Amino acid sequence: MNMRTHTCGELNANDIDASVILNGWVNTVRLHGQVIFVDLRDRYGKTQIVINSEDYSGDFEAAKKLSMEDVLSISGTVKARDAGAVNADLLTGEIEVIVSEMEMLNEAAPLPFVITDRSSAEEDLRLKYRYLELRTDELQENLNIRHNAYQAVRSYLSKQNFMEVETPMLMKSTPEGARDYLVPSRIHEGKFYALPQSPQIYKQILMIGGFDRYFQIVKCFRDEDLRADRQPEFTQIDIEMSFVDEDEILSEMEGLTRHIFKSVIGIDLPNPFPRLSYDEAMNTYGSDKPDVRFGMELKDVKSITDSSEFNAFKSVEMVKAISVKGGAQYSRKNIDELTEFVKPFGAKGLAWMKAENGDLTGGISKFFSDDLKKELIETTDAEDSDIVFMIGDSADVSRSALGALRTELGKREGLADVNDFNPVWITDFPMFQTEETRFAALHHPFTAPKEEDIEKLDSDPASASSRAYDLTMNGYEIAGGSIRNHKPEVQQKIFELLGMDEAEAKARFGFLVEALKYGTPPHGGIAFGFDRLVMLLAGTANIRDVIAFPKTTSAASLMDEAPSTVSKDQLDELNIQIKPSKK
Ligand code: AMO
Repeated sequence: MNMRTHTCGELNANDIDASVILNGWVNTVRLHGQVIFVDLRDRYGKTQIVINSEDYSGDFEAAKKLSMEDVLSISGTVKARDAGAVNADLLTGEIEVIVSEMEMLNEAAPLPFVITDRSSAEEDLRLKYRYLELRTDELQENLNIRHNAYQAVRSYLSKQNFMEVETPMLMKSTPEGARDYLVPSRIHEGKFYALPQSPQIYKQILMIGGFDRYFQIVKCFRDEDLRADRQPEFTQIDIEMSFVDEDEILSEMEGLTRHIFKSVIGIDLPNPFPRLSYDEAMNTYGSDKPDVRFGMELKDVKSITDSSEFNAFKSVEMVKAISVKGGAQYSRKNIDELTEFVKPFGAKGLAWMKAENGDLTGGISKFFSDDLKKELIETTDAEDSDIVFMIGDSADVSRSALGALRTELGKREGLADVNDFNPVWITDFPMFQTEETRFAALHHPFTAPKEEDIEKLDSDPASASSRAYDLTMNGYEIAGGSIRNHKPEVQQKIFELLGMDEAEAKARFGFLVEALKYGTPPHGGIAFGFDRLVMLLAGTANIRDVIAFPKTTSAASLMDEAPSTVSKDQLDELNIQIKPSKK
């Protein structure tokens, strides 16, 4: 094979008359009589190569059979393009290479889809042939952004004295909220390792081990239901720090985030980032990861609905309203469809009124006096041609259902500017959420309660706030963390509240509780969802667009067909027998 002298993105007018060798893929072929024009492509760019029967020493008829994605090595001479053929959009647009020799390095089979156009095939087909899709400009660029983000993170954190430490992939099963992926042990028959849901316990132990500032870019594994921004294996920038409080962690992490956005995509993020308490976020946006690029804030209208003749809202805890610009044109069908949209969030219905001629009409408007309608217009900032939507329910349901509607309408109506990046810290989370009759940790069981709420752990745990914080941006939770319990007795108390008696806590987290006894510095940390960060940097809403080999929403890899069955011998060695399917 003739090795390249240049890449396909390199040659320009300075190289005219040079003899060169290029290697690459056939991006396009055009036949014009006795001349074949080929765009030869590699990671660095495209160069037009010209095969004509006069200059080409090989078999011209055979060259006519070149097809997309064949891999070639060509030798030739760089020439200036005719003035009319110069392509100013292309780095190599001033020149072309007149081919003297050509070697076919690998002839491509007919392609399963048009790879220059990702929308030409269903995602499943593209995932099966991921190597073809990876050749598209979009994925090449996304993975380049991802690469630049890794470098930005490592150089910044290393300069700030953080030390990168690897933690085990085969660990004890200590579920943090999702289901674990388990790995059977051959040597210890009947026992299992788990793949880490995050290195949470290890990084805390690294603080006990005296490392002071740790980071790792690390794979995490969670067997949970997948969504557009979730993968069963995903990457975190995992961080832990000793002798710090919330303010120090938040300000260090703002520095990191600002550095990433500036160095990877040239965006200046605010300094400092705004903060909202969990309650403020839920009240104003109905979400703990609010997209604050647009308004459409949720308003309290319970006092107004209580004075009206509309009885359905009288017994509920909270009534929230939003007004949607231009929504008065929504048809009955649109509104019915939005009503269906809010139901999975627990809402029983979606009340509405349209703003027209300074009045509210239609929907439930007939139950409101003129004065009450005026009050509603003022409270919701409704203008003519808007629609006002209302949900009355428990505080939880009315806020989150209307919040979900706000996010959805923001997307449908294109209210958010795609060039805006609005980070917001969410703080003051409740310590626990109630699941049926018991408490569950809202963040994870190692999160510390606020100092002033420690005694509430005995008197009224449901009202205790934690020292957890999330970093959100444009409707995504991009990072989450907390100050941890460094005192064993507080940690023990929390395990108890979570329904773990001493024996169970010992069986599951005994090594951590034991370690806490031997000189533990106060510590805290955070983990960024690295894939989500790259999604924002790359401007995509699909997490699979920023991962080289992603899984489908049913956690399968269509290219290598994982998961798969294994041989009887493999199972025998592990002493594992597969039961008949439950399905
Ligand atoms: P948490 O569970 O909040 O915290 O995870 C941190 C961040 O990881 C991202 N993330 C995901 N990204 C893609 N796919 C998933 N399935 C997925 N799950 C989570 C989110 C999230 O904000 N150990 C703690 C961190 C700490 O307390 O320091 C933890 O893992 O962006």
